[in-house]
Amino acid sequence: MLRVVVMVSGGGTNLQAILDAVKDGKITNTEIVGVISNKKYAYALTRAKQAGLPAVCVSVGDYAQREDFNRALQKAVDSFAPDLVVLAGFLVILPEELVKNYKNRMINIHPALLPSFGGKGYYGLKVHEEVLARGCKVTGATVHFVDGGCDSGPILLQKAVEVKHGDTKEVLQQRVMEEAEWKILPQAIDLIANGRVVFEDGRAFAGE
Ligand code: GAR
Repeated sequence: MLRVVVMVSGGGTNLQAILDAVKDGKITNTEIVGVISNKKYAYALTRAKQAGLPAVCVSVGDYAQREDFNRALQKAVDSFAPDLVVLAGFLVILPEELVKNYKNRMINIHPALLPSFGGKGYYGLKVHEEVLARGCKVTGATVHFVDGGCDSGPILLQKAVEVKHGDTKEVLQQRVMEEAEWKILPQAIDLIANGRVVFEDGRAFAGE
């Protein structure tokens, strides 16, 4: 069984999609062992508790030094002894050490088709706002492994979503979540849990 820790900051709809997919058998060979939030009042924490999962909060604001936060975060992740760390809307820059320690064992969901609309400052609604401002006709979501850069690690899965005339950023965000994020994030976990991901020249592929 793949031991998975999910890291969150907000509403946790992606966390919910993962929990539902495990329950429905769409993700196999996987146990969600814990949830970590950087926000005390994140609704994602309520979802975790409702699912009977251990949930902890590690907030930047609770530590005098960033170094102390980094150590606490590493400790929280390690305490679950995960095989895979899933960033499901975790909106904090990760400590370098943590990324190094979980190389090829940490994935992130991004609400656009990377490398477009990714990098510093591109998160949440901001991404959809920029997609609309540019007049894109297609957007989507990306699951990628996390490396030392910002949204720059090997891409595992992507799914395109239509941008419709008259969309607001909120409407577009909802469509991207429903049609792409809630599908490809569980799918990525299932692929990893069943040994179906290969790395080739710094890229990731879903194999048979
Ligand atoms: C999701 O749309 C996710 O793609 C995004 O935050 C949202 C979290 O929603 N992540 C990023 O923007 C990362 N750069 P959720 O808490 O309802 O899952």
